[in-house]
Order: sequence, then C-alpha cells, then structure tokens
Amino acid sequence: MSVTILAIESSCDETAASVLRDVFLLSSAIANQDVHKAYGGVVPELASRAHQQNIIPVVDEAIKKAGIGKEEINAVAFTRGPGLMSALLVGTSFAKGFALARKIPLIDVNHLQGHILVHFIKEEGKVLAQPEFPFLCLLVSGGHTQLVIVRDHLDMHIIGRTIDDAAGEAFDKTGKIMGFEYPGGPLIDKYAKDGNPKAFAFNKPRISGLDFSFSGLKTSFLYYLRDQLAKDPEFINSHRNDLCASIQQTIIEILLDKLRSAANETGIREIALAGGVSANSGLRDALIKEAGLKGWNVYIPEFRFTTDNAAMIAIAGYFKYLKGQFADQGITPMARMDF
Ligand code: KG4
Ligand code: ZN
Repeated sequence: MSVTILAIESSCDETAASVLRDVFLLSSAIANQDVHKAYGGVVPELASRAHQQNIIPVVDEAIKKAGIGKEEINAVAFTRGPGLMSALLVGTSFAKGFALARKIPLIDVNHLQGHILVHFIKEEGKVLAQPEFPFLCLLVSGGHTQLVIVRDHLDMHIIGRTIDDAAGEAFDKTGKIMGFEYPGGPLIDKYAKDGNPKAFAFNKPRISGLDFSFSGLKTSFLYYLRDQLAKDPEFINSHRNDLCASIQQTIIEILLDKLRSAANETGIREIALAGGVSANSGLRDALIKEAGLKGWNVYIPEFRFTTDNAAMIAIAGYFKYLKGQFADQGITPMARMDF
C-alpha cells in the first residue's frame, strides 16, 4: 500500500510544504521571505511572523498542486530542528494541529537528514542515479558544514564539521562585506562566472583532521578590502567579479581538501553533495572534475532541492514512517540537534 506524506519546513526563512507519495514527488511549494534582505541576515522574529502568514497558503498550494484531497494524507512530517526556535515553532504547531485534526501520525524530521536524503526523491518520468550505501556526503548549508558517512537512510555519522562559521556563512558574510544584500551566496556565484579565480589569494585555514574553519577567511577578506579601499575607494566596484571568483575558489578549495581527505580515510567512493551551498555552480563543477580524477561516483542534487524545501522533509518523513518512528503531541522543536 502506498503512503502519502505532507511535509512542512519552517526552520529558517523559507516556509515550505510538499506532498510525496512513497518516494515520488507530487508537489513542492515554497514561500521565500524577502523581508530579511535589508537586514543582512535572517531576523528571527520577522521570520516567525512571515511563517505564520505563509503557512496556510503554502500548505494549500502543495495539496492543490499534488491533486489530492486532505483525506488522502496518511502522515504529516515537520522539521523539528536544527533552526531558529521561533521559526520552528510555527511549522511544529501547524503539523501537530493537522495530525490531531486528521487523526494521522506525526513525524519529526532532522533538517540536516532531510538535506542529505533529497538524493532519494524520485519523480515520475525522470531517472536519476542514487548513491549507494555507504556514501560520503558533503553537507554545506547556511548553518552547517559537515562530512557525513551515510550507512542507511536514517543511519548517519558525522566525521567532520565546522568549528566556527558554515560555508554558507562564509559566502554570506564576505558578500555582506562587499555590500551585497542577504544572502550573498547566489550573488557571489553569479559574479564569479565573469571573474578570475586566481586574481586574489586569501589564506586558507590549517585545521587538522576533517574539521573545517571559515571565520579566518572572512577576517582576512575584511582586512584585505579595508587596506585596498583606503588606497582606492572604488576598489570593490572595479574588482567585483575577480573578488567574487577568488573568494568562491578559496571556499571550494577548503571544502574539496577535506572531502579528499575523508574519501581517502574512509575508502568511500560514492560521494554526494547536499545543502544550500551545493547550488553553487563553481562547487558543482569542481566536484565533477575531482570525481573524474579520483574515480568517484558523484551525486549532486537538482538545483531546486539544494536550498531549503519541504520535499526533503517529506522524503525523510517517509523513511521514518516505514520504521514506525512517530512523534507524540508533546514534542517540541530543537534549535540545536545532531543526527
Ligand atoms: O540549506 P540552506 O537553504 O539553509 C540552511 O539550512 O542553512 O542554505 C542557505 C545557504 C545560504 O548561506 C546561501 O548563501 C547559500 O546557501 N547559497 C549559495 C548559493 N545558493 C545558496 N552559496 C553559494 N552559491 C550559491 N549559488
Ligand atoms: Zn537547510
């Protein structure tokens, strides 16, 4: 018998809902929150208010697009964490109410597991290769940067993580230094396409093992620009594309250095990418090139499943449903959460 799952995502600044039938995507709806652009980052109180406004229309849209009736939904999954508490509360409360009203199981999902599991979403008429277990996942988002061994859909083990900023923060913070609105990542990606990645060299961190660090890069970028701007106030405008290409290249090298070490140490050659930063065209290209050199099989998410969405919560919810891992009405969101 097939299972139809409605999923809700509200951990940060996207209000999203999706419907999956087994592993097949029926719909995915997302409301982005432009309200944060002017603030240089996500403002938690504004995010929760926008989630509150968006959640009903977004769920309605997802159900309509799926072409199903509410009575066909067998379970409701939601992001429990990690994320912003005031934002998570909106999705959690909605999901609890929906489960209670429809008398269906409630499933709590770890947002990071969701990002990784996008590789298992299928769509009617599309054939995409899926990673085989065990695979190594480089999870790069706005809040997290991790190397994860994935042994099974719900059996994941973190072997490296950032000790300070996430890769997405490195993009967003350096973008902010150049005067870009939030989030800076997609803009850096865009301008980098017309820049020279070797134009400027920034220090890479020397962190042993498989952990990452990005805060030093942001600081060295800040000081370098401060010195250049003192000599030439137009420096950023006249070197924008080269600055973007160089900072992006440095972030990619930091990520790939650690990924290479992780692949060597574990002997795993099935390599997947996940999270918002996996939308970055430079990173996607660099990984494909690296895979050619190393003989890895690489799996890169479809563009629309890189940044936050609810299809990823639905697929994680589906695997938990199969194992009967349900939550009760007393469950609360968690701002911080490991697997
Ligand atoms: O996964 P995500 O949507 O949210 C979190 O779970 O954090 O990731 C958002 C992050 C932001 O830092 C954003 O700048 C970054 O992903 N991002 C990108 C690109 N698209 C989104 N970074 C670099 N290049 C991109 N094209
Ligand atoms: Zn995310």
